[in-house]
Amino acid sequence: MLLRYKKAFEKISMGLLSFMPQEKDVKKLLETIHQYETDPNWHLFLWKREEDLVGIVGVRMQDSNGIIQHISVNPSHRGEGIGKEMIQNLPSILHTTSIQPSDDTKSFFEKCQMENEEE
Ligand SMILES: CC(C)(COP(=O)(O)OP(=O)(O)OC[C@H]1O[C@@H](n2cnc3c(N)ncnc32)[C@H](O)[C@@H]1OP(=O)(O)O)[C@@H](O)C(=O)NCCC(=O)NCCS
Repeated sequence: MLLRYKKAFEKISMGLLSFMPQEKDVKKLLETIHQYETDPNWHLFLWKREEDLVGIVGVRMQDSNGIIQHISVNPSHRGEGIGKEMIQNLPSILHTTSIQPSDDTKSFFEKCQMENEEE
């Protein structure tokens, strides 16, 4: 289940976002979280599995297109389909069918698309 970010999720969100290669620096990470908290076009969601928050996905809305800027899953839960499931759940929570990747999320996004085409 995707949950919308709230301040109580700040620490876990920073932990999950830090797995993105461009978010290794703490200063950059704080700026990123701040923008998700304040910019109305930036939306951050966490994936809850049982009682744990195990994944994160961050989207910037540009017109009615959702651009996935961040996607990350706790290393202990990778390979269980959570990353793909987060992408599949974005259209309903963002109310748009136009979901695209940024350069930073492109390789995983395209892998998910290829799998969808094979199904
Ligand atoms: C990318 C990430 C979110 C995938 O999450 P996940 O829950 O493990 O993904 P799923 O279980 O839905 O899919 C797993 C598949 O994606 C593949 N995959 C993982 N990272 C990938 C990447 N960066 N590019 C393309 N494919 C990737 C895995 O090899 C696996 O392939 P397989 O099913 O053929 O074995 C996770 O690996 C992660 O947090 N990585 C670090 C953060 C990051 O680099 N994010 C940007 C990715 S472009």
